[in-house]
This record gives sequence, structure tokens and C-alpha cells, in this order.
Amino acid sequence: MCGIVGYIGKGQAAPFLLDGLNKLEYRGYDSAGIAVYDGNNIRVEKTVGRLAALQEKVAGNMPQGSLGIGHTRWATHGRPSDRNAHPHTDCSGDFVIVHNGIIENYLSLKETLIEKGHIFKSETDTEVVVHLLEEVYNGDFESSVREVLRQIEGSYALVFMSKKHPDRLICTKQDNPLVIGLGNGENFIASDIPAIIARTRKTYIVADGELAIVKGDSITVKDRAGNVIDKEIFEVTWNAEAAEKGGYEHFMLKEIHEQPKAVRDTISPRLSKDGSSIVMDELKWDASFLNNIHKVTIVACGTAYNAGLVGKYYIEKLVRIPVEIDIASEFRYRDPIVDDHTLMLVLSQSGETSDTLAALKEAKRLGAKTLAITNVVGSSIAREAAQVLYTWAGPEIAVASTKAYTTQLILLFMLSLYMAGIKGAQSKERIAELIAALEKVPGEISETLEDVEPIKTFAKQYGFNEDVFYIGRSLDYHVSIEGALKLKEISYIHAEAYAAGELKHGTLALIVKGVPVIALATQTDVYEKTLSNIKEVKARDAVVIGIAAKGDTELEKYVDHVIKVPATDTLLIPVLTVVPLQLLAYYAAITRGADVDKPRNLAKSVTVE
Ligand code: M6R
Repeated sequence: MCGIVGYIGKGQAAPFLLDGLNKLEYRGYDSAGIAVYDGNNIRVEKTVGRLAALQEKVAGNMPQGSLGIGHTRWATHGRPSDRNAHPHTDCSGDFVIVHNGIIENYLSLKETLIEKGHIFKSETDTEVVVHLLEEVYNGDFESSVREVLRQIEGSYALVFMSKKHPDRLICTKQDNPLVIGLGNGENFIASDIPAIIARTRKTYIVADGELAIVKGDSITVKDRAGNVIDKEIFEVTWNAEAAEKGGYEHFMLKEIHEQPKAVRDTISPRLSKDGSSIVMDELKWDASFLNNIHKVTIVACGTAYNAGLVGKYYIEKLVRIPVEIDIASEFRYRDPIVDDHTLMLVLSQSGETSDTLAALKEAKRLGAKTLAITNVVGSSIAREAAQVLYTWAGPEIAVASTKAYTTQLILLFMLSLYMAGIKGAQSKERIAELIAALEKVPGEISETLEDVEPIKTFAKQYGFNEDVFYIGRSLDYHVSIEGALKLKEISYIHAEAYAAGELKHGTLALIVKGVPVIALATQTDVYEKTLSNIKEVKARDAVVIGIAAKGDTELEKYVDHVIKVPATDTLLIPVLTVVPLQLLAYYAAITRGADVDKPRNLAKSVTVE
């Protein structure tokens, strides 16, 4: 979490820093700050609250200078406040830094530094880094920074600035993302590409342990040992508009509406020319590889985990390999049974989620074959996994994940078909039938998106209820879990998803008159049983909104309202049924006046454990 930026060049630093932080605010938004060197002094401006508060503070008196760094914070150590906001300075004011991550040994370092006379101004872990730099400084900026890195433990993306060395910024990373944008006579540093895309598409993706000396007209990247690395330029293919709201009120709404395209972009490059088979040139798998896989373990967090639940169903149903699924933060601590016959599938939109990355590393250590499904090219998880499949969803900015979920489902579905084809687990006819259904999905999502008005009405009607229940069986249950998460995180309504058959084992006690229940009933093999469960909640006077496939004329007899999505294969229908659930969450949040794109206490990318 937290977003960091840096600028050096011939232009003014502050406009880039503020604009870059604006693009990174999804990473954290409890305080913000910038530091700019004006040729004599470093001016630090920081304040608690959103970036807008900082912008207001400096409006009319913008820090002047061509060297600067900035930060938008998601608090870990020390509550959100002016003094805990970054950038942080040493005692002399010669050095200033911004940091994303956690310095785990900060307490012992802080004690030692205080004994040596350093005066701390904040409660953060970060501040030790800048005092340590002051302490070990030997006249050589780079070697002093390296000494700091030798002494700190934890995760970080760091940018160091010094008025003693105004011709450069130094940046480095360990387990947190960092990119450098290559400009013309100016260079940029940021946690993520949206911050720099308006200025350049040419980037270096910094790897763990690398350290870059960034000047206005040159960038030198070195490895841990200090050897210069011939860094490959990563050219960003999407444009600046992709990271803008494009006329929508919120990123979340824009991203919901981008799903037909995102899904199409994820499918198209992986279909054979005649559309009869799945092509995954990214994977070099054959039958012998797959025959050696005895089980698949899926690991992820949040929405990606919810996609993994559907993925488990796909792989078991289509490939007939057993699948385990773990929440990433639990995986490492349960002594998992993983070996070289395990395919470890990690799902992560950002490719930076700390728990998912740690689980991946642990699985690698245990000998598993690893495959990442991620949306961010060159992300830590993409680099760490042996193989990668990218969802081509484009940048997802809203904290509430939407198009990442649907593209992950699509990719998991395609991966399952691909594996089924190699293993001969499904007939050619069945695979062809499913591919034909798959190709229609983008159009079917568009069709689902046309029917928004009833959803807005339900959101207004039920948006002020304090509890909402989601029920379904089989794949409908898995989608319910995602629907409940969406509602919770952006509208703050307490929402729970239950396997419909499980209600009577306890939760039915909570169903009383007027409680909204969202009931998904699209899975034909359990349809009648789901109907029985719906009747159970109706008998307790719940208000039931049913979700069914078009052509279903039964469900409406038993529920208060029905939302219908296009009929498709029951395996693919989760990609459609989740759309009204995303919209319901969105409009419920609007009804309650919540800040949709920046829900309280959350941040987009969780890079702390
Ligand atoms: O970037 P990741 O997919 O690894 O992120 C995982 C979760 O943090 C994320 O899905 C989170 O649950 C979202 N806020 C859900 O909308």
C-alpha cells in the first residue's frame, strides 16, 4: 500500500508529483506529502487527509524546483496525521525519503539512533531509514544508501533525495513495486505505471534488490553487488486514458462497463484461428507435464480468492484433477502438503499482494510447479512464478475489484479447457461447445449491462438495510461470496453469503421480516433444491431478489423481484451473474453516500502482511 513518486529533470517537479499521487491515490489515501528542492533548501509540504487537502495547501504557493519526491499513505505504523505523513527528513534536513512497505526492525534501529542523539518527529517505522542514512553518511550517497539497506529488514520501495546530491535521486525496492519512467531530459519514479503514463511509455520495472541512480539525463541500475545492469525497457501498451475515469463518475463504474472489452481481450489472443481450440503459447505444457501433476493448489486473497473458488470448480469438473484452495495469509502457516507434483496457481490482479507473493515463494521452496494469473505485466508475482498468464483487463484503479474478477474467471475457464484438451479429459465436441459459449460472453456481459434501472431501484429500496444475505448453490454460491464482498467493502452494509443448503444449520435464525436476500438460481443440476431454500427464506418474510437465466419462468413465482442475465452454459454464467451484483453494490454505496472508489480503511494493493 502507499504510493510513491519522484521527479528529476528540467521541468518543475511539483506538478508531476501531485498528478502522479493523484493517479496513485488508490494505493492509500489517509495523508499525502511532497518534498521539492529549490536549489538551496528542501521544502516539505504534507498533510493528513486526501491528496485534495495537500493540493489546497500548496495552491498559490507551489514548491518550486526540478527535483522532488512525493507520497500518498495507507497507515501501518502510526495513525494518519500530519507528522506521520511522508516525506520524512533526518535531523539536519539534508536527506528526505518516501517509503512504501514496512521496516520490521525499526524499533531496535530507532533505540540505537535515539541513543546516538537523533530526534524523531513521527511514530512511523519509515523515519528510522532517513536517520540511519544521516548516521552512516560517508560523503558518497550511493554507498551510504547501500549501508542503510544492509541494516534494515522488511519490505520497501524507497526513494532517497539529498540536497548534498541534487543531481540525482536514488531508489530501490524489496517486495514492493517500483517503476522508473524514461523521459527526455527528465525521469520519473513511481509505484505504478498510471502515475507516469501521461509523461512516458518507456519504463524500467525495478526488480527486488536493484538500486537505481536516477539523474535528469541518465539512469543507472545496479544489482545488489553494485554491478551495472543492462536493463530492458518495458514499453507500456495502454494509453493514459485507460487510467482516467473517461466520463464515468467513478472508476468502479467505468471498470464494470469495461468488462465486455476486458473479457474479449483476455479471450481473443488465446483462441486458435478457426476458433476450435484454446491456444496458450505462454505455457509449455504437454501431457507428461500434466500427468505428473497430482493436485492443484490455488492461493489468493479477496476477490482473487473468490475467483479461485470458481477456478477450483472448473479444474475439477473439466480436468478431473483435485484442487485445494487457500487464502494466501493462511497458506504458509498451516504446513501445507505441497511437492513437485503440485501445480500452485496464484491469482492476483495487482501481482503485488504481499501474502500471495509470500505463499508463492513458500510453494516454490517446497518444489511446486508455479503458475501466476495476474493483470500487471512485470509485477512481483509475475516475475516470481515459473509461468504467467496475463488477464488483459487493463489498469484496474477502483479498490473494489470487478473486471479483474471476470477476466480471472475467463482465464481459469480457458486454462481448464486447455488442460482438459491435453489430458483428454473432455471430448472434442464438449470443448468445442464450451468454446462457442465462451465467445459469446463479451456480448452477453454488454447485454447484462443494459438492464441497470431495476438494479438502481433495488439499491435505493434496500440500500439502507443493515444486513443483506446472499444465497446460492454450487457456482451460484461462489458468485454470492463475491457479491457479498463487493457490497461490504464499498457500502459498509453487513453482507454474508451462504451455501443455500447450509442456511437451516444456523443462519436461518437471522432471516426475519424484510431482510433482503439475494438468491442466485442458475445452476440447473441444483435448481430445484435452491428453489426449496428460497421458499424457506420467503416463509420467514425475507424480501428476495432472485437472479436467474433468461428463459427461466419459474423463479419469479417465488421471489419478490427477478434480475435476468442471458442464458449460457452453467459453467460460464458466473461471469454474467456477478455483473448485477457489482452494480447493486455500486448503487447501494451511492445511495448511502459512500466514497465508492476509496472505501474507508482499504487500499487497492495490499503490500503488507
Ligand atoms: O491484487 P490482488 O488481486 O492480489 O488483490 C487481492 C485483494 O486484495 C483484492 O481482491 C481485494 O479483496 C479487493 N478490494 C476486492 O474488491
